[in-house]
Formats: sequence, structure tokens, C-alpha cells
Amino acid sequence: MQAKKGRHRLVLFPVPLQGHINPMIHLASILHLKGFSISIIHTQFNSPDHSKYPNFAFHSIPDGLLEHQFSTSDLAALVTRLNLNCIRPFRECLASLLSDNEEHVASLITDSIWHFTQDVADSFKLPRIVFRTTSVCSFLAFHALPHFREKGYLPKQDSQLEARVGEFPPLKVKDIPVIKTRFPESLDRIISLMMEGTKAASGLIFNTFKELEDNELMKIGQEFCIPIFAVGPLHKYFPASSSSLLRQDQSAIIWLDKQAPKSVIYVSFGSIAEMDETQLSEVAWGLANSRQPFLWVIRPGLVQNSEELARLPNGFLEAVEGRGYIVEWAPQQEVLAHPAIGGFWTHSGWNSTLESICEGVPMICSPFFGDQMVNSRFVNDVWKLGLQLEKGLDREEIEMLIRRLMTEKEGEEIRDRVMSLKDTINSCLEQGGSSNQSLESFIDYILSF
Ligand code: UDX
Repeated sequence: MQAKKGRHRLVLFPVPLQGHINPMIHLASILHLKGFSISIIHTQFNSPDHSKYPNFAFHSIPDGLLEHQFSTSDLAALVTRLNLNCIRPFRECLASLLSDNEEHVASLITDSIWHFTQDVADSFKLPRIVFRTTSVCSFLAFHALPHFREKGYLPKQDSQLEARVGEFPPLKVKDIPVIKTRFPESLDRIISLMMEGTKAASGLIFNTFKELEDNELMKIGQEFCIPIFAVGPLHKYFPASSSSLLRQDQSAIIWLDKQAPKSVIYVSFGSIAEMDETQLSEVAWGLANSRQPFLWVIRPGLVQNSEELARLPNGFLEAVEGRGYIVEWAPQQEVLAHPAIGGFWTHSGWNSTLESICEGVPMICSPFFGDQMVNSRFVNDVWKLGLQLEKGLDREEIEMLIRRLMTEKEGEEIRDRVMSLKDTINSCLEQGGSSNQSLESFIDYILSF
């Protein structure tokens, strides 16, 4: 169904983190193509580049963050602060948009993390749709956190880490999605407010697809009595992503052009994960000892308190000369689509996971925190699209897994499974496919308000 252009406006409010901005901008772009006018309210922190989206109206609100609070090292602290600081400016901005009688604002679409927005939407009698940008399986695991605590799985005990969580197969205790923070009680509070805010919303969208998470979608449908829409993978509707906050180094593609087909392992741990120097050294020597060509993203801030490249272990660059290439930030979607790529060693962020599946690239998973732990376990144990590093970052296990994935029959079988899922994705986005139908139902739904 096509919305009549100019008659319905949607207001979207992304969380200012790369892995959340990308899917929200994709959703906005699709809804604009479907005929909606789009307003994006955003914080000053990590502001999207307005010039890339001339069709959207952007409204910047003060987020009250001081420069030393820009860090993503303590996400719970950042999210708590943003949810408090933005209440007043968000309300004022939304009030001013709603007072413009030219267009009917059909609904507010916010990231699930913006829990305070449900009260604001209610006060204006505006339907709020929650967009959860990560997987359904991880959302279910977050939802079960109070239960995990009650059952004594949390705080995690070293002796229990490898034990299975009976009530939540296939999770092991170590996979329960906690996030390191100086304020553990604030994490519980955020999760609980996020769940309450979602249950009170008018609908819930996931960037996933039915064929991958059918069981989990059924479970979430039983827990949350609101309409649920699985419309992903959203980035597939567009050529390579343009909502990057960092400059993507295109020299990575020039280097890949010179490599043999399916020979290169691409290594990237997303936009937030951090490691210490010992872990960096394990990654480096794991890559060197695997003897496999690699493209490695070492993002500014990846290694705590250091200039990353200066901290690479002595002798590493000499050992991998001609076989490896390092960039600060890559055009990831183009990289994954390149014929030279044979595997993706990822932190299992949800966007990276979807982007990998969409290009038929098998994965090695080393999750760092939160939803990544659950995504990784499902990739390894349920969907069988990759191999998980079970010992953290350990050079011997890294070397072994790279070999298994890139050179052995087991890797070929995993690649075949991912390739077949890639075809499934293509059909679910076509007319009549599951995600396409879900998107159409979603549009009908918001037009019914
Ligand atoms: C965060 C959490 O880590 C993740 O678990 C959650 O699902 C979303 O929020 P992030 O660490 O940024 O996300 O990972 P991910 O979800 O994979 O998103 C990273 C995005 O940055 C991807 O769209 C990827 O294409 C892009 N990227 C990454 C680049 O453009 N270049 C790079 O070099 C690396």
C-alpha cells in the first residue's frame, strides 16, 4: 500500500550509536519511499549527517552531555544519562512538530532504549512504535534477566560459566547478556523500563526475518501483547550504508581487489567494543599464526588507553607483511560483498551478523557484551552459520578456528548454509515474501491510527 505523499508524517528518534543509527535511518528511508514524510529528532552527540538525507527534516535536541561523558565505555551510564537529559528537550521538540497542523503525525517511532518516550507519547495521545534494532533472541534473553537473577545464574560464577541455562536453550551461563558497568543497578533499571515501555507501546518492529527467528517471534508474541513486525534485514533495500559516523577507508577495497577469491578473513569488532593490550596481542598473533590473508579494522578507541597501531606487538607487522591490511574503519557492506572475502571474524553485533548473512559470509564469533553473547550462541549452536571462540581471545583457538572456517570441509559446509540463507533473505524481501508482507502490514497499521 502506498501512503498518500505529504499527508502523513512519521517522527523517528534513533539512539546515537552507530549500530542503532544505521537501521533507524534505513527504516526511515524505506518509509519515505512508501510515501511518508519523515522527521528525525536526534541528539547533538553523534548527530547524523543531514546533508546525506535531503528528504528528511532533522531536529537536533540538546542532550546535556559534557565532553567527558561522550564515552561508550560504560553504556549503562550513557543510556541512563541520555534518558534523563533528553526528556524536556524531546517533549518540547515533539510538541512543536505536533502543533504544525499542515500534516498529520501518524506515529512516533523510537528505539526501545528511549524508554522515557512512552510517557511523552501518551501525554500527546500519539501512538508510539518501538523499534528494537537487535535480534529477537537477544531481546528475549534481556527480558528474562530478572528470572536469571532469581534462579541464581547472576551474578555469574566462574565455576558455572559453561553450564547450560536449562530454561533458555541454547544459552550457557556465560552468554547471559550483561553489560559491564560501574552501576549494575542502573542496568537492571534500564532493562526493566525498556521492557515496560515496549509493552505499553502500540507496536514493535524488529530488524530480523521470520525464516531465521520464527520460534523467537512466536515467543515474543506470547510475552508482549502488541502487534509485532519482522521487516529485516533493512540494509538490503539500499546500496552500501551511508549513515557511517566515521570515514570509511576505501583503500580496503583496492587491497581486496588484489586477493584470491574467498581467501581473506575480515576482522572487525564493531563500533563500541573495547579490548586491552593483551587481548590485542592475542588477536594479532592468532591472525599471524593462521597464515591466512586478513583485513583488520582497528577502530580508534578499540584498545583502551592507547594509540592502537603503536601497541601492536613487536614483530607482528613484519610477520604478516603482504598478507594483512589494517584500516581504522572499513566500508563494511562493500567489504563483505567482495569476492575475496571468505569469512568474517565478528563481535556478533546484530547489524554485522545480518550483513554477513546477507552476503553469504560464514562467521567466527567473539562476542564482547550484551546482545552479542546471545547472537553469537545462536549463530554457532542454532543457525550453524559460524564458529564461536569459546575461550575469549586466545591465539591458539583463534588460529585453529580460522583454519577450520577458511580451509576445512567444516568451513565449506557452514558457507553452504549461509549461502542458502542468503537466497532465503532475497525471497523474503520480494513482493509476497515474509519481511515484505510484514512491512506492508506495518504501513497499513500506522495508517489506521
Ligand atoms: C552495537 C552493539 O555492539 C550491537 O551488539 C548491537 O546489536 C547494536 O549496537 P555495534 O558494536 O556498532 O553495535 O555493532 P553492529 O550492530 O554490528 O553495527 C556496526 C555497524 O557499523 C554495521 O552496520 C557495520 O556495517 C558498520 N561498520 C562497522 C562499518 O561501517 N565499518 C566498520 O569498519 C565496522
